[in-house]
Parts: sequence; C-alpha cells; structure tokens
Amino acid sequence: MSALLETSDLTIRFGGLTAVDSFNLAISEGELFGLIGPNGAGKTTVFNMLTGVYLPTEGAVHFDGNLINGKNPVQVARLGISRTFQNIRLFDELSVLENAMTGAHQHSKINLFDSLLRTPRHYREEKRQRDRAYELLEFMGLEDRAGLPAKQLPYGHRRKLEIARALATEPKLICLDEPAAGMNSGEKVELSQLIRKIRDELEITVLVIEHDMKLVMDICEKIQVLDYGKTIALGTPSEIQNDKQVIEAYLGGE
Ligand SMILES: Nc1ncnc2c1ncn2[C@@H]1O[C@H](COP(=O)(O)OP(=O)(O)O)[C@@H](O)[C@H]1O
Ligand SMILES: [Mg+2]
Repeated sequence: MSALLETSDLTIRFGGLTAVDSFNLAISEGELFGLIGPNGAGKTTVFNMLTGVYLPTEGAVHFDGNLINGKNPVQVARLGISRTFQNIRLFDELSVLENAMTGAHQHSKINLFDSLLRTPRHYREEKRQRDRAYELLEFMGLEDRAGLPAKQLPYGHRRKLEIARALATEPKLICLDEPAAGMNSGEKVELSQLIRKIRDELEITVLVIEHDMKLVMDICEKIQVLDYGKTIALGTPSEIQNDKQVIEAYLGGE
C-alpha cells in the first residue's frame, strides 16, 4: 500500500545550519503517528515544510498523489493537510464559533461573485459552515463557549479550539504541534481521547508532535524520533522506549 504522506530526503538549511537533514517519513492512511525529539531537533520545521510554509532546500513531499513542495499553505490546506501551531494562533476578538468557522471558510466552495452579491448559495454555504463549525465545537467539548470571545478561553480550551478550526478545513491529515503543551494532567487525558476520536470517528490520519511521553506512548501506533535534524529511530512505542540512541538523545548521552 502506498503512503498517504511521504517525504524523500527532505532537507532544509538556514544559512550554515542544516535544520532537517535527509528526512524520510511515510504515513499510511488512518495511522496515528508520532514525531518526537529534543527541543530544536527540527520537528516544527518538518511541519512547516509539509504545509507549504517553508520550501525545502532539497527533497520532496508527496501527499495523496500530489507534490507538496512549491505549493503555498492555502493550496496545501485545499489538498487536505491541516495543522495547529506550537504557539497558538487564534483571532482573540472573534467568538469561539467564528474562530472555528475561519477553518471552514478557507475550504469554502463559494466564489467571489456569490459572496459579493449575497446570493442564496452564499447564505446556504455560510449556514453549512456555521453548522459544521458548531458540530466540531461539540466534538471538542467547547459548544458551551461558542459565543465567547476567544481571548476569554482558558489555555487548554484555546488549544482545543485550534484543533476544531483545523478540523473545519475537512482535512485528510491533521498535524498537531505540541497539542498538550500547557495542559494539566486531566486535560491531557481528555486530549488523548479526543485525538483517538479524530482518527477513529472522523477517520482522519493524525501526525502529532508532542513532548509529553506518556501521551505519545499511549496514543501513537508508530513513532519517529528526530535529533539534530536526523532520524535516529522509527518503531512502535515499546521499541522506541527501549532504543539506546533515543534514551541517550533524551538524557544527554548519560
Ligand atoms: N526560519 C528559521 N531561520 C533560522 N533557523 C531556523 C528557522 N526555523 C527553524 N530554525 C532552526 O531550526 C532548528 C529546528 O527548529 P524547530 O524545528 O523549531 O525545532 P523543534 O520543533 O524540534 O523544537 C533550530 O535550531 C531552529 O533555531
Ligand atoms: Mg517545535
């Protein structure tokens, strides 16, 4: 079976620094895949190359039969890759529901003509987006807050809202960049369940970067470990936990 997402010898240099070096990744449809590694390993940079934010210096990203490098973030989102950010990016003054709708808008099927002339199609499409955004707030357990300005949400809820917005683009693959960062242990348990539901119920393939080892080991079926821009291990959670190179990378060689 060919992979949904595949990178071949993906490399990016910033001046003299090779941030990601000959990186090969293959994720099958329906997988729940983890990307881990110490701070500065190049994980977020990989996401930026997968989503059209950075153009790789060398190598290629293929997704669902399309070459991704060279496409911009909006084009990549249309092809079905969606993401959240390590540093949460929400529209603080917009409501929780409106924030979720910005994801759906990006995917809108209405054209400029429809929106300028406020055609029936425009209203139908806007209602569809609103309904879908609300359903996703329910899915993430945020529906009670739909009318609040996003800035009034506590931190853990802001992270969940970002995920709702990413889901509203109707992706085939969602990339989560440290979704548990800043969450307390109860919120992390709930997040683990939500990530599983995204894969099991919404049938979306998941790629997650996460520092919380318990969460990663609990939910991921396969894990790839980056260190200084290079893959040092790939395997199941138990294989990764017992890998000598991985232990050294995390413990600083002791
Ligand atoms: N735009 C950029 N310009 C220069 N260096 C960058 C840029 N983006 C990332 N880097 C560098 O690439 C390396 C990997 O960063 P990053 O991908 O954010 O690591 P991680 O997400 O694994 O913590 C770091 O050394 C970082 O400073
Ligand atoms: Mg990062």
